[in-house]
Amino acid sequence: MIDIAFVKPALPRHGALVLPIGEGAEALAGLAQAIDAATGGAVQRALTAAGFKGRKGQSCTVWGPALTDGASGPSRIVAIGLGKEITPEAAEAAGGALYALVQAEREAVVAAEALPAPVAAALAMGLLLRSYRFDRYRTTEKEEDKPKLERLSVATDAATAAKTAWAPLRAIADGVFITRDLVSEPPNVLNPPEMAERCRALESLGLTVEIMGPKEMKKLGMGALLGVAMGSAQEPRMVVLQWNGASRGKKAGQKPIAFIGKGVTFDTGGISIKPAAGMEDMKWDMAGAGTVIGLIAALAGRKAKVDAVGLVGLVENMPGSAAQRPGDVVTTASGQTVEVINTDAEGRLVLADVIHYCQTRFAPRFMVDLATLTGAIIVALGHEHAGLFSNDDELAGRIMAAGKAVGEACWRMPLGEAYDKQIKSEIADMKNVGGRPGGSISAAQFIQRFVDTKAGPMPWAHLDIAGTAWSSKDLPTSPKGATAFGLRLLDRLVAEHYEG
Ligand code: BES
Ligand code: MN
Ligand code: ZN
Repeated sequence: MIDIAFVKPALPRHGALVLPIGEGAEALAGLAQAIDAATGGAVQRALTAAGFKGRKGQSCTVWGPALTDGASGPSRIVAIGLGKEITPEAAEAAGGALYALVQAEREAVVAAEALPAPVAAALAMGLLLRSYRFDRYRTTEKEEDKPKLERLSVATDAATAAKTAWAPLRAIADGVFITRDLVSEPPNVLNPPEMAERCRALESLGLTVEIMGPKEMKKLGMGALLGVAMGSAQEPRMVVLQWNGASRGKKAGQKPIAFIGKGVTFDTGGISIKPAAGMEDMKWDMAGAGTVIGLIAALAGRKAKVDAVGLVGLVENMPGSAAQRPGDVVTTASGQTVEVINTDAEGRLVLADVIHYCQTRFAPRFMVDLATLTGAIIVALGHEHAGLFSNDDELAGRIMAAGKAVGEACWRMPLGEAYDKQIKSEIADMKNVGGRPGGSISAAQFIQRFVDTKAGPMPWAHLDIAGTAWSSKDLPTSPKGATAFGLRLLDRLVAEHYEG
């Protein structure tokens, strides 16, 4: 991971010098002015010649500038536009775009003297997030084809303020990378037991990790989750991660907030098997769980003043000879029975048992689940929004707002009795599919049946991230592949409303 440092402003003698410039900025100042003077005005001439105005998305590179005094200087100077409003959001996007322009250098210095600390930190965050790369299985790539950037130095006179702004972002970036690593791993490597072991390794962050196997889950009556696991040679796992940042040193007993993730480490569809084309994508059917794990790690990493639990149901959906069949009826941990019409609608079966367990054990303040649940949500919203379903307008509003703030947009979808009717079964309490119309909604209705509101309200939200967990193209702060969508959103939700 790229090392981010905050340093006193000084002209670099090698590497890249980055000049973030707002639209309509007056004359060059600080290091920008210093490098312009040292190059005999070459920088300003280049910016003028290139029509660089500091607009969003604009950049201008001056290659190999000579210093008039003959001293060595940066090997490239990169001006990057921040647009009219110099916000952290704008800086983050500029930082993401900047990565491609400096990744061939070992070091880059950003002239951030004129930027407020949160803006400077956001620029570093954007660049860091965009630099993610999953390299573990590339063995023959040429050295010259690899990105080189090792260190980004943010030059500022307000180093203390910048470091304060940076510390939590760094922990969040670590969490995002944990999620992306998990989601990127191939499915032969990342099976349920292996994924659980990787959770165990996070204990070093000060969180607690409990791992349950089929025996414990049988005792808990988790017939729905276990039914999905039956067709696989891999044992299922349920992992409970706890970060007690609010009740540290105090008496326990405060209600935590809870996050639940779908962790299908590979989804063949089971006996209702999927077509071959594109099936490799189903390695990332554990992205909900991966995001919950990265989120709890981020909360622990930044020592969030909150008690949070993360629960993930880890299974592989395979069509082995012991696999469950269409027509099977399973009994869930809640006691409700389900007719399994389609073994490919497995995520909701896993979530049903984990959500029930979460509520009965923790009685949390709210539950948010994340799942790559339905292809139908991609039909509805494309890759631009995650589907948000909730029984609580306040929670839903907070999630919408947090998503907007961090660039992880959600779109609220409806719930209602008419949709719930779609999952009526002739033989059991419900069936696991509701037909093609409103496929994402009937899936959410299914999950809602395992949120118990008989004894009082239980705020719950479900994020269907099937369209946003993985990207086939580069995004401003996420190279193509695993995005960790939802992690920053939920971190922001916690920071805004549930800390302290
Ligand atoms: N994991 C899939 C949903 C999915 C599809 C995620 C495409 C990401 C990209 C889920 O388990 C599934 O198979 N859903 C079925 C439900 C259907 C059988 C009711 C679907 O969406 O087709
Ligand atoms: Mn499926
Ligand atoms: Zn699935």
